[in-house]
Amino acid sequence: MQKTKASIYDFPTYYDLVFGSDTAAEMQFLEKCFQRFVDGKVRRVFEPACGTGRLIYRMGRAAREGGGLEVGGLDLNEKAIVYCNRRLERLCIKGRAFVGDMSDFTVKRPYDAAFNTINSFRHLQSEDSARGHLEAMAGAVRAGGIYALGLHLTPTRGETTDHESWSARRGQLSINTYMWPIEKNAKKRLEKFGIRFDVYKPTQSLRIEDALELRSYTAKQFQQLLDSVDPLWEICQWYDFGYDADKPIKVSSTTEDVVVILKRRG
Ligand SMILES: C[S@@+](CC[C@H](N)C(=O)[O-])C[C@H]1O[C@@H](n2cnc3c(N)ncnc32)[C@H](O)[C@@H]1O
Repeated sequence: MQKTKASIYDFPTYYDLVFGSDTAAEMQFLEKCFQRFVDGKVRRVFEPACGTGRLIYRMGRAAREGGGLEVGGLDLNEKAIVYCNRRLERLCIKGRAFVGDMSDFTVKRPYDAAFNTINSFRHLQSEDSARGHLEAMAGAVRAGGIYALGLHLTPTRGETTDHESWSARRGQLSINTYMWPIEKNAKKRLEKFGIRFDVYKPTQSLRIEDALELRSYTAKQFQQLLDSVDPLWEICQWYDFGYDADKPIKVSSTTEDVVVILKRRG
């Protein structure tokens, strides 16, 4: 097997298969949240750190069948954005993604709703960049619109789930993924994970190894951050990665993952 150390985000086709094969629960959850929490209609949606656009293209497509949802997104990785926009174009979906930093950006016209579900927010390494993101998002979502933000918290009691492995297959391409912790530094609020894609094609097999550095948040630290942008965003509801819009949660010291629904104040 050929081996390489590289960013998994530089391989959009593989990323999209690994993270995009099971999106039904996330999609349904977000659509229910739009209906439940947004004042007025949702016609335009935005995803910061959209990557390959695995969610926005589905929303553009699903909505197109029922009548025209426009999508937008941004990501730091140019390869992911090229991949994302090619698919949006191919499917004649209205809206495009652009290369940008989610801690400091503007959009031409605010969207009705936004979402960022799988820990991308934790790529921001400092309190300033995290706050910058929530401020930039307040410019990207109209008053009465929502931002669904999902991330893993660090429980201060109980066990954590650290090792993960899963497989995905599309046609003759199959990928086994494994993720494991390398370092956890609560003082520096840094969590470093190793991640490996083992890629199998009929003519080639390839191992891609990467390390992801994520900022850690206890429930209290995350709440403090939200409080610091309180005039901009109001907390509507808390959920977890079970993505059941009918099952809100209460955040406690053992909570591991949350999706907070923030509403843009007028
Ligand atoms: C786990 S992926 C999630 C992609 C997409 N949201 C999804 O659900 O499939 C994290 C993404 O965050 C992007 N990213 C990391 N730091 C970023 C930043 N400062 N601004 C914008 N995007 C960033 C990476 O390039 C990557 O595409």
